[in-house]
Amino acid sequence: MINTIENRYIWLNGEIINFKNAQINILSPTSQFGANVFEGIRCYWNSDNKKLYGFRLDEHYLRLQKSIRMLKIEEKYSLKEMKQALFDVVNKEQYDEDIAVRQTVFVDGNGSWSSKGPAGMFVAPIPKGLSSVEYNKKGLNCCISTWRRISDQNLSPRIKCGANYMNSRMAQLEAWDNNYDCAILLNENGKLAEGPGSCLFIVRDNKLITPSLSSSILESITRDTIIQIATDLDLIVVEREIDRTEVYICDEAFLCGSAMEITPIYSVDGYEINNKMGEITKKIYNLYMDIVRGKNKKYMKWLTEVK
Ligand SMILES: Cc1ncc(COP(=O)(O)O)c(C=O)c1O
Repeated sequence: MINTIENRYIWLNGEIINFKNAQINILSPTSQFGANVFEGIRCYWNSDNKKLYGFRLDEHYLRLQKSIRMLKIEEKYSLKEMKQALFDVVNKEQYDEDIAVRQTVFVDGNGSWSSKGPAGMFVAPIPKGLSSVEYNKKGLNCCISTWRRISDQNLSPRIKCGANYMNSRMAQLEAWDNNYDCAILLNENGKLAEGPGSCLFIVRDNKLITPSLSSSILESITRDTIIQIATDLDLIVVEREIDRTEVYICDEAFLCGSAMEITPIYSVDGYEINNKMGEITKKIYNLYMDIVRGKNKKYMKWLTEVK
């Protein structure tokens, strides 16, 4: 498996070209000010039936459209066209591996941070093995960041835009500098929000608890997936505000996202939660991994055969 993007195809503004030839204007608002919105879409290879399945594509394109609208970027591409671009570039190449597709709509041209267009788009399929495998063995030692998650009152975490990740960056770099694997951010009310690129779940008394959608979090597709599949596991799911100390005394905790999949947290701020993946987390993880790879008939509705 070649785990690099070099010499692969990329879709840029309607053309499929070699990654090396994909260039953008360095003075564009996306380059200067991070004026872009994006999705990270996972496609999983099923080696039994030799099919590549895109996971919850429609939900990703709907969220991308909402991000475009919230930032008032020119709506150049329809939902159908955005999805077609992914199909076209993935089918140009032989992909018999898991991939993460980065699809970004950006403000091109010579304008400023307030320019609405011209809009550009790229779609970059990036080969990627199971990202959570390594951490599922090791687990994450997290800290509560001293940085607060951005809020709907300043720059909404509901918008999946490049600029929001500078808040994530501050938290992640602080965590690494202090020898933690990852950070968990509190929101401006001091309640648990999310990780730098993932959502948070904790387990208390056999209940699965996650911060509500108005707790300063991204409207995560993985979070939504877990809430829906938890019912199959007869779990009670509660969406509510979570206090910081609840994570210190919970029975299990994990972060989730398209990239992170489901990754257990072993400790927070030195408070040990677990030293292996908890039983409930494991059940959710196993079901999730079967679903995304097309091994669970009930949830085939979430999969699109990409090739
Ligand atoms: C800040 C943040 N929260 C949550 C998530 C998880 O979202 P999703 O499950 O849609 O990938 C991500 C990943 O994109 C993220 O960047």
